[in-house]
Amino acid sequence: MANTGTTYLGLNLKNPLVAGASTLTEHADSILRLEDAGIGAVVLRSMFEEEITADVADMYHELAYTETAFAMEYLRADLPARLGPEASLNRLAAIKKRVGIPVIASCNCLKKAQWVSYARKIEQAGADALELNLYRMPLDATKTSETVEARDLDTVRAVVEAVKIPVAVKLSPYYTALIPFAFALQQTGVKGLVLFNRFLQTDIDIDREKFFYRPDFTTPDALPLQLRWTAVLRNILRTDLALSGGIHSGRELIKSLLVGANVGYICSALYQNQDHKALISGILSTLNGWMETKAYAGLDAFRGKLRETDLTDGEGFERNQYTKQGNGEEVFGVGTQS
Ligand SMILES: Cc1cc2nc3c(=O)[nH]c(=O)nc-3n(C[C@H](O)[C@H](O)[C@H](O)COP(=O)(O)O)c2cc1C
Repeated sequence: MANTGTTYLGLNLKNPLVAGASTLTEHADSILRLEDAGIGAVVLRSMFEEEITADVADMYHELAYTETAFAMEYLRADLPARLGPEASLNRLAAIKKRVGIPVIASCNCLKKAQWVSYARKIEQAGADALELNLYRMPLDATKTSETVEARDLDTVRAVVEAVKIPVAVKLSPYYTALIPFAFALQQTGVKGLVLFNRFLQTDIDIDREKFFYRPDFTTPDALPLQLRWTAVLRNILRTDLALSGGIHSGRELIKSLLVGANVGYICSALYQNQDHKALISGILSTLNGWMETKAYAGLDAFRGKLRETDLTDGEGFERNQYTKQGNGEEVFGVGTQS
């Protein structure tokens, strides 16, 4: 058996397959099933500031319609569980008590003070690390990308200063210049970057002429974007990198490691194949078998072998157009194989 152990954010993982944040990583029971199936670590479903604010608004509404002193007392006693992120934090503490693999919490807030406050509470509740789900769609036409990125960097810096647990940032692919932004994130002291987040998609119902949200599950076709950016950033950054998006089998996990990812996240495949034991053990045995065939004793023997080495020679990822080769052949078609 090859050794598939790895470190991520300074944590020891028995293998590089991590369950990305989703509703499947919200409760202890489903996380225990993932652990039993062999997953290396989990990222908990994000705590969203607006969800918690909505709970608080509900509580005020309830108080306003409460007339009896007894009911008031009852609600007051229930306040700590309902005000702020306490319910999610209690769940986190319970998960930590029952689960042996590393548990990475995740949050997505609106205001800087809340990012810092959630991070502190998440640390106190026992998370092994914290992933900042940073994205908010910039809709203000007066704010340039520089302003938006400076605000995000300021937030990340404040969180990193506020906690001792390792902090990672989950990025979206939608940056004008991802490399300098990723580099600036590294300067804040974050220990890892997750490439990339994927969002709930808006679609249109043409009969009702209305927008609606639909969950967006991936296929392995989603992988190349993550492969490209992981390869490029691996060559520039010291921080750990997690590849998230398009890992459905051992083949995608191997590709992720070859471009330099420390770990690969899996999410959509867990929804599409409810037999988590068969899915996860299948992925890990493909990785093992491939390493044995190649005589790789551990992940470091091949991790990053295909990272980008020269961004300026036009041979790597910098010029990614369908150009013709010197012999007139389209590059498209050369060496094409999955
Ligand atoms: C139903 C669902 C819920 C998700 N919830 C979260 C979340 O709470 N926080 C987060 O950072 N990402 C969330 N994601 C994104 C995933 O963690 C992951 O980054 C994305 O789905 C790409 O990986 P995949 O190709 O394996 O699905 C969610 C994805 C799905 C499908």
